Amino acid sequence: MNNNLIAVYPGSFDPPTNGHIDIISRASVIFPKVIVAITHNQNKEHLFSLEERVEMMEQSTSSLKNVQIDSFSGLLVDYLDNIGSFVVVRGLRALSDFEYEFQMALMNRTLNRKIETVFLMPAQEYTFLSSSMVREIAVLNGDFKKLVPDAVYKKLKNNKRI
Ligand code: COA
Repeated sequence: MNNNLIAVYPGSFDPPTNGHIDIISRASVIFPKVIVAITHNQNKEHLFSLEERVEMMEQSTSSLKNVQIDSFSGLLVDYLDNIGSFVVVRGLRALSDFEYEFQMALMNRTLNRKIETVFLMPAQEYTFLSSSMVREIAVLNGDFKKLVPDAVYKKLKNNKRI
């Protein structure tokens, strides 16, 4: 095994959910180092700023010693190249994720043929979870405590924008 192997888990994480943390924990067992790379998704309007999402993710993964949080702008393949990685980790929750993920994995490989995407399955209880669903429940004053890490719960509860 390559002890310098870095796996990158990219996403918008707006906000991070327990499903994301589940994937990060699983990746941290497999790879020597995992970088959670947070970025702006051009197709989404974000609730939290990049800095806020980085902070929430740092607080939520502080117990995982081989996990590092970073942010990037531009193409994922360029970010991977800059940090010397060729492995992308993504979570596959249900069959409905497959088409989007398949397209993204093959496009990344088209942009750089060295890139490999590894898919991990979250625990069953998180297969229905998404960031937009958490935001919607928070806006409508539902109970979302079990769906997100504590740091995210506090931040979302105190968010004046919702
Ligand atoms: N648990 C809970 N939710 C999960 C999840 C899991 N294990 N896995 C995915 N999701 C949810 C997310 O919460 C999110 O939900 P939302 O749509 O309600 O916000 C959704 O699935 C996907 O979000 P995420 O995993 O954050 O990815 P994304 O689609 O926001 O980000 C990027 C995709 C950022 C990786 C991609 O756009 C990218 O690489 N951008 C950089 C530019 C680039 O290179 N573009 C070309 C790509 S081919």
